[in-house]
Amino acid sequence: MRLIRTESLTKSFGALRAVNAVTIEVAEGSLHSVIGPNGAGKTTFFNLLTGQQAPTSGRIIFDGRDIAGTPPHGIAHLGIARSFQRTSIFPTLSILDNVWLAAFARQESWRGLAWRRADRYPELTRRALEVLGEVGLGGKAGLQAREISHGEQRQLELAIALAADPRLLLLDEPAAGLSPDETRKMVTLVRKLKGRYTIILIEHKIDVVMTMSDRISVMHFGSVIAEGTPAEIQRNAEVRRAYLGGIPAS
Ligand SMILES: Nc1ncnc2c1ncn2[C@@H]1O[C@H](COP(=O)(O)OP(=O)(O)OP(=O)(O)O)[C@@H](O)[C@H]1O
Ligand SMILES: [Mg+2]
Repeated sequence: MRLIRTESLTKSFGALRAVNAVTIEVAEGSLHSVIGPNGAGKTTFFNLLTGQQAPTSGRIIFDGRDIAGTPPHGIAHLGIARSFQRTSIFPTLSILDNVWLAAFARQESWRGLAWRRADRYPELTRRALEVLGEVGLGGKAGLQAREISHGEQRQLELAIALAADPRLLLLDEPAAGLSPDETRKMVTLVRKLKGRYTIILIEHKIDVVMTMSDRISVMHFGSVIAEGTPAEIQRNAEVRRAYLGGIPAS
């Protein structure tokens, strides 16, 4: 069953069509990667999905209805979460409180909720601890967010996204800027989340994409030039041209 489908989704910046008539369909529970050279329009595509930018034209059908143009808080409530927005971390709060706040913000309505002490919401604390365990930070819940390493902060960002129990998780280069060791950890983590969440992944490391994805869409100058399984993408001549031979033939 498909969870999200974009139809001829387009975003223009003046004369530039950063996202050009992109049609992508993602099945529930799958990991769908979006790859393409720098400037291909991948992040802009995510900005449209999360409501950070309004599309110039086209539709975004999520769970059967068109959500194009819905503002970010509305999108978040529909269950689309994006990781790796560094601004969502509060450096002086504990790791647990950071995740707890994300779980709290996700609740159906703030109205009717008394402003009670955090320990009066045991179910939220339970959820926060659960996702911290999922991302491998279970043992560090009491530390301040600023005290952990760069790689762990990326894990925390992922926990913050997961705290909302998203139906669709968008990951924009989760391993960017990480050391080889931290990258390995992040790849293992994303692999673990695969199947439990529907994921759209933007990633430059082709070997990671090829081994992890159910399907791959390739963007080039705003357009999708190929879509298919990893094996199909690897064979595709146009894709290889776009990457100037960056993907070796199998
Ligand atoms: N707000 C904006 N105003 C004008 N042009 C923009 C804006 N945002 C992005 N662009 C342009 O749109 C194109 C696509 O950018 P985008 O960031 O989506 O690419 P990308 O595929 O994510 O690249 P990278 O792999 O480097 O992250 C680029 O040419 C970029 O300069
Ligand atoms: Mg980008």
